[in-house]
Amino acid sequence: MFSRSAIRTLAAPSSRLFSSSSARHTKVAVLGAGGGIGQPLSLLLKSDPLVTSLSLYDIRGAPGVAADVSHVDTASEVKGYAADHLDDALEGVQVVVIPAGVPRKPGMTRDDLFNTNASIVRDLAAAVARVAPTACVLVISNPVNSTVPIVAATLEKAGVFDPKRVFGVTTLDVVRAARFTAGVTNAKPSETPVTVSSKGKTVSGEVYEKLVHRIQFGGDEVVQAKEGAGSATLSMAYAGAKFANAVLRGLNGEKGVTTPTFVKSPLFADQGIDFFSSNVELGPNGVEKIHPLGELSAEEQKLLDACLPELKKNIEKGKAFAA
Ligand code: NAD
Ligand code: LMR
Repeated sequence: MFSRSAIRTLAAPSSRLFSSSSARHTKVAVLGAGGGIGQPLSLLLKSDPLVTSLSLYDIRGAPGVAADVSHVDTASEVKGYAADHLDDALEGVQVVVIPAGVPRKPGMTRDDLFNTNASIVRDLAAAVARVAPTACVLVISNPVNSTVPIVAATLEKAGVFDPKRVFGVTTLDVVRAARFTAGVTNAKPSETPVTVSSKGKTVSGEVYEKLVHRIQFGGDEVVQAKEGAGSATLSMAYAGAKFANAVLRGLNGEKGVTTPTFVKSPLFADQGIDFFSSNVELGPNGVEKIHPLGELSAEEQKLLDACLPELKKNIEKGKAFAA
């Protein structure tokens, strides 16, 4: 139920959407660019100074989105690709962001999306393996706990899997955690980094319980408010652009870029769980260092213990599909 959620509370976001270092040429592709997340994400990536070229692909509507976004007066070039032009869209790309797939409606779990999204993600990953085998792949499509192992296994089958370059985007969880914690502590979100938040430590009792629940079920809050029209798109686009910027800064050689993400990880591998989300330092090759969780409170330990069996099942389901 909260396999992403326990993890969500354990990370520290920074406050600015984009920061830049000395730029090199970086071509970024968005697969699913015509969707609720894909459109605003494409716009935000157009505003990122580290993106020099933007390749927008969807089975529906990407050329229109590309024409629109391309008028924004930033330096990057934008090109749209319709269905059947996936390989062209991936040509020369260093970073691939995947928000393709169906979102939840009220009453659905993320796992209910598996049957539709698993094959979408597998097919896109197969194209990445063919055309852009060294690209960093940032997976947004749900259920992330399963879609990331599917991408990894698909790349592995093609002989091009590099665990340093496949990421599940869990940034929305820490964006929410920072925002909601700020709300209950009368602070600014920039003052409420979640792993080591002095403000967070002041929250206890019922307020703490409600805060943790809200972070875990933030996705449901949006799904219900949208009344069948989908799940989080705008905040997710913000989170996706923020995470992509972190990856790009690492690729550009910036030091000390650390952010939480769901990656192939040794942290719980001894329990048969070989993907996990924790703070990860990013660098020129993608993942530079996977940080341990650090000291957990008794409450955090309980959340972690509850999430592990569910997470294991999600990962195994993804692997079994890809096999
Ligand atoms: P959406 O339906 O608005 O958009 C999805 C887009 O994917 C559509 O434009 C569709 O045409 C496209 N698409 C479908 N199959 C495709 C394929 N084979 N190739 C390329 N494009 C394809 O959905 P959305 O609201 O943008 O959500 C997308 C996904 O992101 C969902 O699975 C949702 O659950 C997930 N999501 C994840 C997070 C997270 O924190 N990781 C947050 C919010 C949503
Ligand atoms: C979220 O947390 O908003 C996403 O995972 C989308 C969803 O289905 O809740």
